[in-house]
Amino acid sequence: MQKREELYRGKAKTVYYTDDSDKLILEFRNDTSAFDGEKIEQLDRKGEVNNKFNHFIMTKLEEAGIATQVEQLLSDNDSLVKKLDMIPVECVVRNVAAGSLVRRLGVEEGESLTPPVFEFFLKNDALHDPMINDYHIMSFGWATEAQVCEMKKLTFRVNEVLKTLFDDAGMLLVDYKLEFGVDNTGALVLGDEFTPDGCRLWDKETRKKMDKDRFRQGLGSVVETYIEVADRLGLKL
Ligand code: TMP
Ligand code: ASP
Repeated sequence: MQKREELYRGKAKTVYYTDDSDKLILEFRNDTSAFDGEKIEQLDRKGEVNNKFNHFIMTKLEEAGIATQVEQLLSDNDSLVKKLDMIPVECVVRNVAAGSLVRRLGVEEGESLTPPVFEFFLKNDALHDPMINDYHIMSFGWATEAQVCEMKKLTFRVNEVLKTLFDDAGMLLVDYKLEFGVDNTGALVLGDEFTPDGCRLWDKETRKKMDKDRFRQGLGSVVETYIEVADRLGLKL
């Protein structure tokens, strides 16, 4: 499958049309962005590592019965995916307090959250991805009530699968962000990516940060640590 013209260039991935109108190619670039694009750097091998990591995780989710966009790993940096009509919201589940939740509510980083917290954010860098609720999504027509309900259900289902996967490999899944889209049959499908760029992972014992907080906070060894996460999961990169 060949890349045709560019459909969309995001901060870390580029999406291309293909000759099949139902399929796109996602190219994972080395660009690494934080703070809504305020900090951007090229990190050697990051695109390749995230492309392969994403394929690995999405395959695990498929095996658990969750429909994903991923079709096939094409090369180091490219994956073939189903074309989706993306819903412009981010679905976040938090098992442990960190990041914007800590800043917003003044709670302690590291506090366990039972039940896990669910939040929606609007995908809009210019507005710094504001937090929204179900009613904003329905009132502005970004998704239907049924889709809102299904996005929550699927995001929590992903938590069950991935919490165990990371726990068995000595890591704590602190939080993560998912994005969904609608395929050509009208079904809701998990799109975008699941990589250490879009989640928080801590070593279970030492609480070492093993995700994009290494980049946000200037902790160093970003890609090396992503490779360590993959290695612990049994994915050799
Ligand atoms: P937050 O603590 O900054 O709200 O982020 C929660 C989780 O969602 C964290 O794992 C990072 C991820 N996330 C993204 O990947 N992209 C985004 O634009 C946002 C807002 C969060
Ligand atoms: N993904 C967003 C950005 O690139 C937010 C973040 O991860 O900090 O700026």
